[in-house]
Amino acid sequence: MAELAIPIVKKKLNGYVGFHNLPNQVHRKSVKKGFQFTIMVAGESGLGKSTLINTLFNTALYPSKENVELTNETPKTIDIQTISTDIEENGVQLKLTVIDTPGFGDFVNNEDCWRPILSNIEARFDAYLEQENRVNRKRIVDSRVHACLYFIAPTGHSLKPLDLEFMRRLTHRVNLIPVIAKSDILTEDEIRGFKQRILEDLHLNKIQIFQPPSYGNDDPETVQENKEIMARIPFAVVGSDREVESNGKKVRGRKYPWGVIEVDNEEHCDFVKLRQMLIRTHMEELKDYTNEVLYENYRSQKLAAAAGGAGGAGGELPGDSLLANPLSKFEEEKLAHDAKMAKMEAEMKAVFQQKVAEKENKLKVSEEELYARHREMKEALEKQRLELENKKARLEGRPGTPEKIKKNKGLFK
Ligand code: GTP
Repeated sequence: MAELAIPIVKKKLNGYVGFHNLPNQVHRKSVKKGFQFTIMVAGESGLGKSTLINTLFNTALYPSKENVELTNETPKTIDIQTISTDIEENGVQLKLTVIDTPGFGDFVNNEDCWRPILSNIEARFDAYLEQENRVNRKRIVDSRVHACLYFIAPTGHSLKPLDLEFMRRLTHRVNLIPVIAKSDILTEDEIRGFKQRILEDLHLNKIQIFQPPSYGNDDPETVQENKEIMARIPFAVVGSDREVESNGKKVRGRKYPWGVIEVDNEEHCDFVKLRQMLIRTHMEELKDYTNEVLYENYRSQKLAAAAGGAGGAGGELPGDSLLANPLSKFEEEKLAHDAKMAKMEAEMKAVFQQKVAEKENKLKVSEEELYARHREMKEALEKQRLELENKKARLEGRPGTPEKIKKNKGLFK
């Protein structure tokens, strides 16, 4: 059915209405609620991932590893580690979650290194989807990954097969932000050439990385800011959570015999531009893209697969065994849940029966005790009565009744 076009007529207001204040309302509400951001870091070990996260958020999220002894032990699996923290700046709260992937690229055979990382990202989409499908959707917890910083080793050549495979597999699932790690060991010319080759490799392999979008109604300043950020991608970064002295000032940086590399100096590296994009200007954009494009694609592919094995999407998917039918998964979960409930019921029944038997036993014992006490009291009273009767007879000068005396005596035996 064709949609009816509703004509939009522009009207001038005759006086104050007040809806120009709507952005302030949204602002107040958001500040009150606080913000939440989940970032993943991936790349070979020792490329400065933890240091960069500490430098980015200006907090010691990761303990310093400067003095940690290195071992030659090869890890058996890729470990996915999550650190969450609440940080505050000028009254604005940010719940920051960092997902680290130690072990990546450290094996003799790194062919499937991307797999556990992709599974983790998709499991987070699944958790969100499951919450959306619940009857009560009031408190949806969003643990989806909003950005993945991929650390490229500063070889100065081009991307390695491992880098390409990782980014090719993840490009449809997460906002990829490639960074050239430890760029202080490369010269300016080397960095320029390296960046060029990386961009060519990404293009050739159809790997889409996050690009700060520009909108038609953006002011010239924003457009310029975006251009400057774009020009620096992939960001050549230097991390340091320590202060060193440079020209009599304390700065965050790395000190070398030939001088100091300042982390926060745009002429020395791209750290400032990366931080600007990630935190100051495009954090909401990264979250929106995750929600509206990456998650939506995943969700519709999953639902399409469930509705009849729409293989079309399968070929383009990053993982090979992605589309497990959600309905059969749901049924499996239901069966498991039913079995669990039946087991719990049987256990509760057994406990209840045991408690009833114990109570009955206790009641029986106390009933017997009561009965014995009653008998004792009755006998004592009878004895007292006979004594009194004998006493009374003696006082009246007549002997007590023989059977009574006998009875009385019998009681004294
Ligand atoms: P894993 O946890 O093993 O994966 O290591 P990582 O990638 O988190 O690296 P980490 O931040 O622990 O840094 C490893 C070493 O590199 C430390 O000694 C850091 O001081 C040093 N380092 C970190 N960033 C830089 C940098 O930008 N340039 C140079 N030259 N060294 C750096």
